[in-house]
Amino acid sequence: MDRKNFLKKAGFALAGIPTILNANIVETTSVETKPIGSNANRDWKSIAKEFSINKDIIFMNNGTMGISPNLVLKSLQEEFEKVAFKGAYPSDFNRLKKALGKIVNAPHTTLAITKNVTEGLNIACFGVELQRDDEVIMTTHEHVGGCAPWLYRAKMEGIRIKTFPLGMTAAETLDNLKKAITAKTKVIAVPHIPCTIGQIMPIKEICKLAREKGIISIVDGAHPLGMIRFDITDIDCDYYAGCLHKWLLAPLGMGYVYINPNRLNATRVHNVGAYSLNKFDMTVEIPIMDSADLVNETQRFSTGTYCGPMYEASLKAIEWYESIGIDRIEQRGKR
Ligand SMILES: Cc1ncc(COP(=O)(O)O)c(C=O)c1O
Repeated sequence: MDRKNFLKKAGFALAGIPTILNANIVETTSVETKPIGSNANRDWKSIAKEFSINKDIIFMNNGTMGISPNLVLKSLQEEFEKVAFKGAYPSDFNRLKKALGKIVNAPHTTLAITKNVTEGLNIACFGVELQRDDEVIMTTHEHVGGCAPWLYRAKMEGIRIKTFPLGMTAAETLDNLKKAITAKTKVIAVPHIPCTIGQIMPIKEICKLAREKGIISIVDGAHPLGMIRFDITDIDCDYYAGCLHKWLLAPLGMGYVYINPNRLNATRVHNVGAYSLNKFDMTVEIPIMDSADLVNETQRFSTGTYCGPMYEASLKAIEWYESIGIDRIEQRGKR
């Protein structure tokens, strides 16, 4: 059955993804969906043809959500068909985490897939144990997803948030941060690339400073993935929350969180279920859980049934991104 007929007949199964399978895709019979491999050195004009967005739209909102290339949309449809027609169970999340881990240089065991950056930042924020009057330092350039969890904790628990302004240079920014640190500072939570001005922060130096002072570092990494080369192991932060649906052009609703293995057991988990636990036993009269029953990986934070087609399509987005290469992308982005 061709895709047009499939959409007519199986619209019910696809009701959850109306923005993805837009009219353009349905009506277009000759979309380019095989860019990978043979034509890896294709120019930007031909790359543009691998998208189905209306040609009269100049899309500039990748900071919120990227438009996926046709290859990703095709994969979504095929994977949803596998579920709807064959009852296929979701893909193995470790495949996606391994592919992602290669890009950001973090072992897959340190990563969990989330639905967006905000979820990852909430996992970090509410995972850290703090006392009343402990201080959290942030910039004056936070996205709501970065600051809202902390504003809420401040209101509910009496912790204090302090801000510092960004400088014109990395040295000035670091200097401003140093001035804000006090004996009560327990957390530094900053963006890698602020959504306001797009400056690339001296994130490695910030995390080094935090570590030297015994302060926890949390990085809002909404924007680097798919735009610039970066290395989470080298940055050496405690937590890093990022996104697949912005610059990497994966389907909407895909994020990730990195937790440094040194912080794994110190981080409180708030959602526990399938994939969080090694084992449990409810057949006994008084069931108990031991800390060791939690999986010894960041996976413990991502629990329950997940959307396999989105994971598979995200793998396609990674393949597509790699077919162009971060060097070309970064070069073009900085032009
Ligand atoms: C810097 C920054 N942090 C966090 C977010 C929130 O991202 P999400 O909506 O994927 O949770 C955004 C979104 O634009 C952002 O720009």
